[in-house]
Amino acid sequence: MPRPLIAGNWKMNLRLSEALSLAEAVRREAEKGDGPDLLLCPPFPYLVAVGNALRGSRVALGAQTLHPEPKGAFTGEVSGEMLAEVGCRFAIVGHSERRQQFGEDDAAVAARVRAAHRSRLAALVCVGETLPEREGGRTLEVVERQARAAIEATPADVASVTVAYEPVWAIGTGRTATVEQAVEAHQAIRRIVREARPSARDVRVLYGGSVTPDTAPALLAHPEVDGALVGGASLKAESFLAIVRATPRRN
Ligand code: PGA
Repeated sequence: MPRPLIAGNWKMNLRLSEALSLAEAVRREAEKGDGPDLLLCPPFPYLVAVGNALRGSRVALGAQTLHPEPKGAFTGEVSGEMLAEVGCRFAIVGHSERRQQFGEDDAAVAARVRAAHRSRLAALVCVGETLPEREGGRTLEVVERQARAAIEATPADVASVTVAYEPVWAIGTGRTATVEQAVEAHQAIRRIVREARPSARDVRVLYGGSVTPDTAPALLAHPEVDGALVGGASLKAESFLAIVRATPRRN
């Protein structure tokens, strides 16, 4: 089983000073030793400073999105090359806020997955159904379609794949998926990865959507859940580190 990954998606939050003390607190936690792998995804303007704060630690740096092109006339956008150059190892791709608010469809997500891998960034691909889709009995159809589009865009010989199952109705709402709901989606995602990229040995399927110190333990205890993508609760050291400490040790 892969080592669990706990990722913080700060979205468009925090002042620089808050970002730096949070990064420092996470770094100190990582120095204690054998916890889960850790990833912080600050807003673009903070990447360099947070990257410096994390340098030499076990805490990886990630971006929240990237543009599909390596460079050019794309005012306001940031490329995978730039992100890799400032020390990012991951890029979140296909977050539901990008899909819903910025019109990123499966093709746009696939283009960003390709761009991430071209730049040697690991894509942390997000998939998940809306409430009407769940209520209409279409959860697995949607999750499988989104996962397939993203996984088929990863290199054929990829060794490692990270997907986050994030039901849209659970993001920022305080409503968490039940363990059963998460497990059903995680198994479907794993099936798609196995079919589309049999070379991937290290497959991590994270859960995201209102993960808090209260909801994390039950989800993270299940062997199908390889970690968490945390939004709101990643903005405070106390709640984020409580989730980190609630992650069961593996291996
Ligand atoms: P949340 O966000 O933890 O605030 O629900 C999760 C996410 O959007 O990745």
